[in-house]
Amino acid sequence: MYKVVISDSALNNHKENNMKVLITGGAGFIGSNLAEYLLNEGHSVRILDDFSNGRRENLEGLQGELEVIEGSIEDAETCKKACGDGVDVVSHQAALGSVPRSIKFPELYSQINLHGFVNMVNAARQADISRFVYASSSSVYGDSQESPKFEAKTGRPLSPYAASKISNEMFAHAFASVYPISLIGLRYFNVFGPRQNPEGAYAAVIPLFVKHIYNGTSASIFGDGEQSRDFTFINNVIQANFKAMTSPDIKGSHAINIACGHSYSVNDLFNAIKDILGKECSPEYLEPRLGDVRSSLADISAAKELIGYNPTIQLQEGLKKTVEWFVKTYQ
Ligand SMILES: NC(=O)c1ccc[n+]([C@@H]2O[C@H](COP(=O)([O-])OP(=O)(O)OC[C@H]3O[C@@H](n4cnc5c(N)ncnc54)[C@H](O)[C@@H]3O)[C@@H](O)[C@H]2O)c1
Repeated sequence: MYKVVISDSALNNHKENNMKVLITGGAGFIGSNLAEYLLNEGHSVRILDDFSNGRRENLEGLQGELEVIEGSIEDAETCKKACGDGVDVVSHQAALGSVPRSIKFPELYSQINLHGFVNMVNAARQADISRFVYASSSSVYGDSQESPKFEAKTGRPLSPYAASKISNEMFAHAFASVYPISLIGLRYFNVFGPRQNPEGAYAAVIPLFVKHIYNGTSASIFGDGEQSRDFTFINNVIQANFKAMTSPDIKGSHAINIACGHSYSVNDLFNAIKDILGKECSPEYLEPRLGDVRSSLADISAAKELIGYNPTIQLQEGLKKTVEWFVKTYQ
């Protein structure tokens, strides 16, 4: 239930000016990239993950003060223990992803994504942690027809996954109203990059395309492929997380878009990956999926203003880095 593993290089002397960061979901795609960045910068990292979707190989080779707790955010006691021993800031990434899976198993999204979120914020404020950064999602824009998407104008959720993320933001506002803790929700727009899992029934579109195009197997596109997304390379997301953790003088609760501010269709994406890999192939077009939004483009001025976010890697460069990683890892 509650197991602690400390890496060989773990030191107990927490250095001055360096943070001790708790990353929930730290064995997953975004969490493990964030852990690597923080460790390389000399910070101390504790991960809480139940390894339901996180992978041990994501943590292999990480160097520095790293502690891993294997446990679930569904358990309030585990959350409390994870927030103890001088954690300075929480980065809450643990959640179930995938819109289609949430339509199939809605109850899991209230148990893990909502109840688990409340457990974590509650544990953080009981441990006197004053900054809580968490993963929200562009799915909170739901049926809104606005483009680009501005933070103040969310829509009605189109899936249980989206409902869980909107509920997180509501609880964040409530916690910040009654306790001395500041919460920053990062509304990620289709993040991609190294360590994103290409396997499993609910894999994200970019690793799936890379895998199928590289292997010469058939890739599927739901709908006509003209649906568009503001694809965001992982390094930009790590920058946003770090700035949200460390920007001084932010009080209360905020939710900000983390994206690039450019939108590409799924067909554009398929062709770009095909060109990078130098392969000739065509996708198979299937029926559109329930719960998918048609277009998604972010206005990122609020993130620039609040935390100084400035995305530095655009789609093409990010795709090249992702393909390089995939080929190196899976060849
Ligand atoms: N990747 C994206 O494009 C994207 C977009 C919007 C929002 N998000 C959000 O960002 C966060 C991270 O996403 P990701 O792409 O890295 O996903 P991921 O699945 O790779 O990482 C999530 C991690 O949470 C862990 N986890 C799941 N349930 C848990 C539980 N009950 N207790 C402890 N750990 C648990 C998983 O094992 C996994 O390691 C999630 O909250 C996700 O909803 C991601």
